[in-house]
Amino acid sequence: MAIRIPEETVNKIRQETNITDVVSQYVQLKKKGKNFFGFCPFHDEKTPSFSVTEEKQIFHCFSCGRGGNVFTFLMEVDGLTFPEAVIKTAEIEQIELDEAVVNDQKRHSQAPDSKKEVLFKLHEESLELFHHILLNTTVGEEALSYLTTRGLTREVIETFGIGFAPQERTLLYQYLVEKEYQEDLLKESGLFVERENGTLLDRFYNRIIFPIRNQQGKVVAFSGRMLKKDDHENSPKYLNSPETLLFNKRNVLFNYDKARAAIRREKEVVLFEGFMDVIASWQAGIQNGVASMGTSLTNEQIHMLDRVTDHVLVAYDGDDAGIEATKRATDLLVEQTDFDLEVLTFSEGLDPDEFIKKNGPASFKEFLTHGRDTLFGFKMRYYRRNLNLNNESQRLSYIEKVVTEMLTITSAVEREMYFKQLADEFDFSIDTLKEQFQQQFYEERKKRSKKNKPQPPNPEVRSTAFSHVEQQRKKLDSIERAEQLLLNRLFHFEEVWIQIKSLADEFSFVHDDYQMLYLLYESFLEHSESQATTGAFIDFVKETHLKNKLVEIELQSLSDEITAQEIEDYIDVISRKSRLQSRLKETQEALSEASKRGDQAHLRTLMIEIVNLSRLLKNG
Ligand code: CTP
Ligand code: MN
Repeated sequence: MAIRIPEETVNKIRQETNITDVVSQYVQLKKKGKNFFGFCPFHDEKTPSFSVTEEKQIFHCFSCGRGGNVFTFLMEVDGLTFPEAVIKTAEIEQIELDEAVVNDQKRHSQAPDSKKEVLFKLHEESLELFHHILLNTTVGEEALSYLTTRGLTREVIETFGIGFAPQERTLLYQYLVEKEYQEDLLKESGLFVERENGTLLDRFYNRIIFPIRNQQGKVVAFSGRMLKKDDHENSPKYLNSPETLLFNKRNVLFNYDKARAAIRREKEVVLFEGFMDVIASWQAGIQNGVASMGTSLTNEQIHMLDRVTDHVLVAYDGDDAGIEATKRATDLLVEQTDFDLEVLTFSEGLDPDEFIKKNGPASFKEFLTHGRDTLFGFKMRYYRRNLNLNNESQRLSYIEKVVTEMLTITSAVEREMYFKQLADEFDFSIDTLKEQFQQQFYEERKKRSKKNKPQPPNPEVRSTAFSHVEQQRKKLDSIERAEQLLLNRLFHFEEVWIQIKSLADEFSFVHDDYQMLYLLYESFLEHSESQATTGAFIDFVKETHLKNKLVEIELQSLSDEITAQEIEDYIDVISRKSRLQSRLKETQEALSEASKRGDQAHLRTLMIEIVNLSRLLKNG
């Protein structure tokens, strides 16, 4: 049973909410004219085609066609039910709810129904067990003192819900069986391994447990770190949950849920390699850090970042592997997006966590602010890493590489700085370097123009991209357009309703979707007395594709003035078309009859009529 929130409460929340507040928790929005634009959170895209109209309190993606109001948005982006979306909106906007509603919601959230929800609950309960063992039991003492030695405070252990899975290999199993979880579900949770005889053993034992949360902060997996090297001779330092219904590591960034607010505040995300780096930085006061799941960055993860910020600071480990990983990550980020990238390189092969332990939080913060390098600066150091610059040919090839790389720098000032740096270091004249730069620039351009579709390295490409999307916006034929405009008017002017009823008794829309919306609107009006706003109608319409259509209709720009003639014109266009359509249908039926009878003469006239009707319909 779903919970019910009183109509007035829903209306109150809808009225007091600004959709951009809510959407910007998920999408980085930029204002253009009256509207806001960003990357659509529902699919991958390289140019922003997702828009939010404050005036109408709706969102719409020009590329995938999804649209709706604030509740629709949360339902889709977080997979919530309608009441859940309403309550979440109230939370985001800090609108107080009746106690009755809150209690009702709580009761229901304790009665999960889908398998996914049961798995969420199972993870939450497992976490509670591990966390309790770490903090309150003697078997957890060694692990707790290990974490304390590593510098973690009790507060941060609690914030991240860190736990401990002891040696005993059926502990979690028994615990969950007692809570009446079914064997099949336990298997599906990924938290167990199956013995040959089919019985289950805890996957994680004698490991420190880090919960991994999804974007909504729900635990979807665990990662277990071994305590000491000799504990698990041949097993990895970190062991993760396998892929499950809840967990796909491509889609997860460690700490994304908690970091999101700070990322927005700081307008920057710090990207780490490991959990411990994220946690140690958090404790040091840097809360906008996330880590990918021990693999190279995936497109999904990059898009998660892209949604919330333009600026990435890559802070990987300072060892060789970390530097190689930084190169790979920055290459990927450059390829996929146009983030502003900076790099933090830790000396002596330290990782961020070790740096903090060694130098303290204050100097970590200082390094984060003043120790960062531009992407290009990083690349210069990267290319020279294993070169002997005393060797002339190595030196020249290095300079050539760097100069080529300079083609990617769009800021003339920055380029100048590097020219100077290179010239100083290698005792070249700046002019020589610039000459070489020019030469490579032209060569590069020649290469590009040979490819059939050149992609100019032009920073303005992205800002103009939207108008392009707008141009591509589906062209409606005249009938569909009339249908949309008529419905738009109908939703906003009561007199249109009366006019339609009086003008055309037999009136109906040509396209099923619009006819459906028309009928739905009629019953919506019957059901709601005072609050017949389009915002409320969006919630009344349950089917997603109809909602999307509704938003398209709402987005039609029309003047504030309305005349009876305007409405008549729409109706004319629509009914003419629907008359033609029904005639076409009848003629087609007659044609198949005539052909069965072998009535050649009749066949001919019917064919001609069909051709004519089709042409009329097409020219609508
Ligand atoms: N990782 C993994 N499996 C391993 C080793 C590492 O999944 N066998 C992942 C983990 O997500 C880990 C990240 O890679 O957080 C970074 O690994 P590493 O640098 O070795 O770990 P640290 O973060 O330095 O962890 P610690 O300080 O506890 O050694
Ligand atoms: Mn480490």
